[in-house]
Amino acid sequence: MPITAIRGFNDILPGDSDIWRRIESEAYRLFSGYGFSEIRTPVAEKAELFLRSIGETTDIVEKEMYTFEDRHGDSLALRPEGTAPVVRAYIEHKLYIAPVSKLYYTGPMFRYERPQKGRYRQFYQIGAEVMGDDSPRADAEALSMLMSFFAKIGVAGVELHINSLGDANCRPAYKEKLKAYLAGVKGALCENCLRRMDTNPLRALDCKASGCIEATKDAPSIVDSLCEGCASHFGTVRKYLALSGIDARINPRMVRGLDYYTKTTFEITSTALGSQNAVAAGGRYDGLVKELGGPETPCFGFAIGMERVALILKETASHAGSPLTVFIALGEKAEEASIPILRSWREKGSKVMEEFSPGSLKSRMKRADRLGARYTVIMGDDELAKGEVAVKDMLTSAQERLSFDAALMRILSE
Ligand code: HAM
Repeated sequence: MPITAIRGFNDILPGDSDIWRRIESEAYRLFSGYGFSEIRTPVAEKAELFLRSIGETTDIVEKEMYTFEDRHGDSLALRPEGTAPVVRAYIEHKLYIAPVSKLYYTGPMFRYERPQKGRYRQFYQIGAEVMGDDSPRADAEALSMLMSFFAKIGVAGVELHINSLGDANCRPAYKEKLKAYLAGVKGALCENCLRRMDTNPLRALDCKASGCIEATKDAPSIVDSLCEGCASHFGTVRKYLALSGIDARINPRMVRGLDYYTKTTFEITSTALGSQNAVAAGGRYDGLVKELGGPETPCFGFAIGMERVALILKETASHAGSPLTVFIALGEKAEEASIPILRSWREKGSKVMEEFSPGSLKSRMKRADRLGARYTVIMGDDELAKGEVAVKDMLTSAQERLSFDAALMRILSE
């Protein structure tokens, strides 16, 4: 029996990988323009890092972490997200010496979730973190950059949902209010929400169980319970989003699955996806750097779900890579002459693959067709002597003789 990949872990095959590369390069180009630099952190960290940052009573830590002991007995985890590792590196390498650090990253994350379309156990994120800026304008600018990214890449139907989760000033009082409300609807809550009611009552607002959704319909809204500082921060974020021409829907039930957030949180959804419709999410986390042993550092960040963006682009947008040309040299002389010609064509940006099989011209043309060639270029002794090649348009079947340079122009003009 052949060995298959681990459930929820995917191969990214040729064709799809062109889309992935485009997503990554568009993001890097755009983010660099806003002053971000790349950071790369390891795929595994000490498990404690995630317990102390994401929170011990979150689904990610309780149920979804790939935690294991190494041969030394240390408890390690495959990273379920990228923010905590970036914060760890920020503190460890004293990046806080700079007044603001703007960092972006990409790579695989691991969560033991139930695999379905758009949800995997190994998935890739492109993330960005603005570290050391408490201004609400930083939140609005990062959100505006993210919306530009989706527009540029061609992801349709994106909607921005925002909320504020308050801070240490106002959240404790809100938690108490919510706890009192939940106590009144206790009978309708699921086991998980009941268990977390005292330690993490906000989770009930995020619960997908129908009983909990119904029971929390009239729960007090966090937005109505913000202190003056948080309310003013939220107001300024909304004002600058409006100035940037961005529509934002306020969703006071959006509490996110990670405990480190303060003030602004958000999700971007796309109508082009099914139930797993969040293409990016994030928010402000002003307490995390200090919590993990660094200096007080207000931060804002987000992560984009690469698989979900790739799914949308594959289904909706035109993403044709540069067209392929197959080159067939007939006979030893033409084969030798093809080497410098093809090298120069490739240096000038064409995508050419030479066809080496020993069969008849007819069978080689068939192979070129099956390889998906847009053009097939044929060079035999006769063409070579005249400095020409035969160029066949595989869509129309029209064939013409062109000089080497004119042939290159033709295949580059697509
Ligand atoms: P998150 O909401 O857990 O946030 O994940 C961000 C995005 O990653 C989601 O919106 C989704 O597109 C994608 N994603 C999450 N889980 C899966 C999965 N199992 N399969 C496929 N895609 C998935 C974070 O991870 C935070 N670190 C974001 C952040 C950065 N907050 C501040 N800075």
